[in-house]
Amino acid sequence: MQTKVGIVGAGPAGLTLALLLQQAGIECVVLEARSRGYVEQRVRAGLLEQNTVDLLHSVGVADRLDSEGLDHTGVYLRFQGRAFHVDMLRLTGRKITIYGQQEVVKDEIAALLERGVPVLFDVADVALADLESEQPRIAYTHDGARQELECDFVAGCDGSHGVCRPSISGGVLTDYELVYPFSWLGILAEAPPSTDELIYAWHERGFALHSMRSPTVSRLYLQVPNDDSLDGWPDERIWDELRVRIGKVNEGPIFDRSIAPMRSNVCEPMQHGRLFLAGDAAHIVPATGAKGLNLAVNDVRLLSTALRAYYEDGSTTGLDGYTSAALRRVWRAQDFSNYMTQLLHDLGGGAYERALQLARLEYLTRSEAAATSLAENYVGLPAAPDF
Ligand code: FAD
Ligand code: PHB
Repeated sequence: MQTKVGIVGAGPAGLTLALLLQQAGIECVVLEARSRGYVEQRVRAGLLEQNTVDLLHSVGVADRLDSEGLDHTGVYLRFQGRAFHVDMLRLTGRKITIYGQQEVVKDEIAALLERGVPVLFDVADVALADLESEQPRIAYTHDGARQELECDFVAGCDGSHGVCRPSISGGVLTDYELVYPFSWLGILAEAPPSTDELIYAWHERGFALHSMRSPTVSRLYLQVPNDDSLDGWPDERIWDELRVRIGKVNEGPIFDRSIAPMRSNVCEPMQHGRLFLAGDAAHIVPATGAKGLNLAVNDVRLLSTALRAYYEDGSTTGLDGYTSAALRRVWRAQDFSNYMTQLLHDLGGGAYERALQLARLEYLTRSEAAATSLAENYVGLPAAPDF
């Protein structure tokens, strides 16, 4: 089989890239290791920047997002019994939308299949070859048979445990990494959110977050030690701890639970030969800044623009500059995610560290400049051709 762009991975990065390429008339094929059902049910992020919402509109997959997404114009920072409201719309003119990642994935898959873009699920043993040539190849097994896809370019959108990044030969990549000494226990519960906007809660016992998915479903998180397991967290303990850290929280049946480690990682460059990495395949942020999915979408916006220029007039300027353009926003998000993480979690450093965090939170309540800085990063700085 032949195509122009072979895309590995049907997460937000791969699917959004496929939509952008289809819109530009550039042929592509998406190869996904998991089943359609699995990727459509996988519970992850839920907060979309306005940039992301605008892009989903531009590729025509925003009907359900418009009707079911929840627009939020601010967030609460909760500490020591106070709730400080950061009015993002007033401070930045921009807002965010709450809409589950798996809903984005469902909408994107449906649109791609309807538009005739091949998305192959349950693909095994993906292997890349000839990345430094003008005709890279992707070998894979599908329906029991070994196949090969010849392409002009490979987009590595296969997440943090994929095969694309490790396909780049040793010595080419620099890996930047920071592992935090805590994880997030996340739940979805059939319970009407007890707040109109997200609550980021600082507490001596650790961070907690009250988010939501709909008027009847709450999404809640607790900071837990890295070695904790779900066995140690029966429902009652989860609700008790959420009430201690956040305050009033509506309870209901828990229908999804998981523990996710918090990690920061960047690989540089994000390209090698004809392989271009995008999303979690190239970088990871701790979820406190809610940037993971938004960065993935931004990467493929830049990559699709570069590919379009290549196919329209033979220009390689955008492709050559892909890493530097993408990494500008990646590092901005790394800094913001690290800032939010350090501001709100129990970092294990004791009384001095806690007092410093409270001084920083207090500063946000007294300084419009400090609150504006947090807000503009949180809603996402405007998209640009080099950012
Ligand atoms: P992914 O969504 O990981 O998609 C990669 C795809 O590639 C997957 O479908 C995978 O099955 C497929 N794949 C992997 N290997 C292969 C292979 N060899 N061959 C073919 N296909 C392959 N971000 C937030 O902002 N807020 C959150 O609350 C949040 N929670 C998270 C919870 C968890 C458990 C995880 C893992 C991530 C979370 N994130 C969160 C991050 C956010 O979900 C990611 O940044 C986002 O999914 C990145 O999209 P992506 O398309 O780059 O990668
Ligand atoms: C979520 O709704 O899943 C969510 C929201 C904000 C974050 C992280 C996760 O910072």
